[in-house]
Amino acid sequence: MINIFQPSLGQEELEALAEVFESNWLGHGPRTRAFEAEFADHIGVPAGNVLFLNNATAGLFLATELLGLGPGDDVVLPSVSFVSAANAIAATGARPVFCDIDPRTLNPTAADIESVLTPRTKAVVVLHYGGHPGEIRGIAELCRGRGIPLIEDAACAVASRAEGKACGTFGDLAVWSFDAMKTLVTGDGGMLYVRDDTLMTMARRLAYHGMGQASGFSSARVSARWWELDVQGFGQRIIGNDITATLGSVQLRKLPRFIDARRRTAERYDELLADIEGVALPPGVPEGHISSHYFYWIQVDRRIRDQVAADLLDAGIYTTFRYPPLHKVPAYKASAELHATDVASEVTLLLPLHQGLSDQDVQQVADELRKSVGNRRRSGGG
Ligand SMILES: Cc1ncc(COP(=O)(O)O)c(C=O)c1O
Repeated sequence: MINIFQPSLGQEELEALAEVFESNWLGHGPRTRAFEAEFADHIGVPAGNVLFLNNATAGLFLATELLGLGPGDDVVLPSVSFVSAANAIAATGARPVFCDIDPRTLNPTAADIESVLTPRTKAVVVLHYGGHPGEIRGIAELCRGRGIPLIEDAACAVASRAEGKACGTFGDLAVWSFDAMKTLVTGDGGMLYVRDDTLMTMARRLAYHGMGQASGFSSARVSARWWELDVQGFGQRIIGNDITATLGSVQLRKLPRFIDARRRTAERYDELLADIEGVALPPGVPEGHISSHYFYWIQVDRRIRDQVAADLLDAGIYTTFRYPPLHKVPAYKASAELHATDVASEVTLLLPLHQGLSDQDVQQVADELRKSVGNRRRSGGG
């Protein structure tokens, strides 16, 4: 089976894990702080403004909580978002308001977002579809101009940049995911960035039982009764740990290689698929933008898309579509008029893209796709 996503882990990760085991310190500790500092450096922000969590979904829930969202508030997000973004909004009592996207990039434009803003809009959440930065600068300017906080769901965009600036650092808060299907993987894990220092302090409390001070040896040095709790409010326990953080540090060092391999695969697909009639390739990455190449997607006639996916599966090639529009899922059903979203979600198919693909794999995907599209079009579809 040629898989759609696949992690790349090896000897270096095993050796780093062995060191954690030998240290007898598995929880949040020095390796977590090291990974936070390295990731902060990677995205160009102060180390004190990032927090390693046990997943990105927890980060989205924390972000909406930090903004104090609640009943009566609207939060705008593209319908083509991962469901955790909508869940994080709905959990506060606020209402997710879905906006449309560009049908080719599957990213929302600044105009798409502006068209659904109202005086009740209290936040905007955007992702970077497939790792392409999209109009993130324009969207950040729009939000700042209106005084609306912007949360970037940078789960797809671990190495993406627009005009030299890392995706995730344009808005007020951001999350990255390191789950098992991402480019940089820690098993489970996520990074939260909070621009504002006061909110960041609050984030640390809320992520660890609402506690204001570190527990353990470090507080024994400053307090006679170090077991007493400084809990000013409710909190969760969603912090990362030294096992997953050490994987993150190794993977972060490998990240440039991973992105390079993904970019080369995307370019190879561009060459191999360019002349297949009825197949539209993903739009190129605009000048000044760097993509993480998390997804490679094609677009075909809606009458054959699902059959092509089935043909490829029969040939041992797993494809998928991300992200099925949220205004169509039962929990969030909305009568929004989102024409481009409806079209894109019917014609788009993600092809396998990961750093473990061989040239032969890529050739096989291209050959099988060519065969399937040709057959399906000949038999009357598209
Ligand atoms: C765009 C996007 N946001 C958020 C998440 C959630 O990340 P996690 O699995 O780390 O909670 C995902 C995971 O697939 C995602 O694709």
